[in-house]
Amino acid sequence: MNGYQIEMNLSHERKQKPAFDNLQFGRNFTDHMFIMDYTEGKGWHDPRIVPYQPITLDPSATIFHYGQTVFEGLKAYQTKDEQILLFRPNKNMERLNRSSARLCMPQIDEELALYGLKQLLNVDRDWVPNVEGTSLYIRPFIISTEAHLGVSPSLTYQFIIILSPVGAYYKEGINPVKIAVETEFVRAVRGGTGNAKTAGNYAASLKAQEVASKSGYSQVLWLDGKENKYIEEVGSMNVFFKINGEVITPELNGSILDGITRDSIIQLLKLWNIPVIERKISIEEIYQASKEGKLEEAFGTGTAAVISPIGELFWQEKLVVNNGETGSLSKKLYETLTGIQNGSIVDPFGWRVLV
Ligand code: COI
Repeated sequence: MNGYQIEMNLSHERKQKPAFDNLQFGRNFTDHMFIMDYTEGKGWHDPRIVPYQPITLDPSATIFHYGQTVFEGLKAYQTKDEQILLFRPNKNMERLNRSSARLCMPQIDEELALYGLKQLLNVDRDWVPNVEGTSLYIRPFIISTEAHLGVSPSLTYQFIIILSPVGAYYKEGINPVKIAVETEFVRAVRGGTGNAKTAGNYAASLKAQEVASKSGYSQVLWLDGKENKYIEEVGSMNVFFKINGEVITPELNGSILDGITRDSIIQLLKLWNIPVIERKISIEEIYQASKEGKLEEAFGTGTAAVISPIGELFWQEKLVVNNGETGSLSKKLYETLTGIQNGSIVDPFGWRVLV
C-alpha cells in the first residue's frame, strides 16, 4: 500500500472504439482521464479518475494568455499475453518536473502521478491496442488555471492525463521522410525554454513546418538560434547521423529536448559497441559528409515517432541519404526498441514497467 487515495468516478457509458488496425495519431481518446488540482498553500489535491470530458476554465485563465503549461508523451503497450507495459515512465515524470521548474510551476509527486496513471490504465486497459505498430499514447500535462491577466505564475493549476490509441505518427511510418534544413526560423535559443516540454516551443515551430510542407518536406531540421550553424533537432524529435561508422547526435545544450528515446538509443548503441558520440555538429559537416559519401544514415527519435529515418535533406541542394531508403542501423534500432517496449524481446536494461 502506498497510501494514495484516488477517487473513482467511472463512466456509465463506454465509447465505441476505433478500428485498431487503422489508427491515426491523437484523434481518439479513451473513456476516462486522471485529474488533480493545485492551489497555492494547499498543494496538489483531489486526485481522481473521471469520464473523459471537456474542462471549464475562466476566459482569463493564464494558460490562454501566457502559455504557462508543460506536457509529456509516453506509451503503453499490450504484450502477447495481454499484459500492459510502460516504457521508462519515471523518466517522463522526472522531465515533467524539470519542465515545470523552468516555467515556475509546482512540482508533482512523481510516484502519485505514476500511480494515478497505472490506475487510469487499469480502468481503460481494453483501449491499449494489440495490433503491430500501435500503442496507447499517454499525454500527461499541467495547465495554469488562475483567472488573472497579470503576468505572474498562476496560483492554481490542473494536472491531467489523457490516453489515445495510436498508430504511426508520420504517414510514412518507418519509411524515410524528406527534411528541409531551416535557415530562417529557429525553434529555441540558449537560455530559453528549448529543453522544457512546453506548448510555446511547439507553437513557435508551426510556421517553419508549414513553409516546409508546402515544398513537399515532412519536417524541418532546426539549427541553433545563435549562429544558425549547429544542428539541434528535427521536427519534434532528436536527431542522429551515422557518418563513417560513427553515430553522432547533438549534445544537450539547454535548447535541445533531453529525449527519453534519444537516451535509450544511445544506451542501445553502447551495448552493441557501436561508436556513439554526443557533440556539436554543424550542417556544413553533414553537407561535407554527404558529398564525400560518408553520410551513411540519419534518423529522428521521439516517443511518438520512435525512429523516423531521413531519406533526403535539403540544404543548399538536395542531399539524398542512403539512396532514400531506411538504413540497416535505423531498422535494427527501431525493431529492438519497439520489441523491448512491447515485450516481444528481452529487456536488458530493465526499462519496462508492468501496469
Ligand atoms: C512525443 O514524441 O511524444 C512528443 O511529445 C512529440 C509530439 C507528439 C509533440
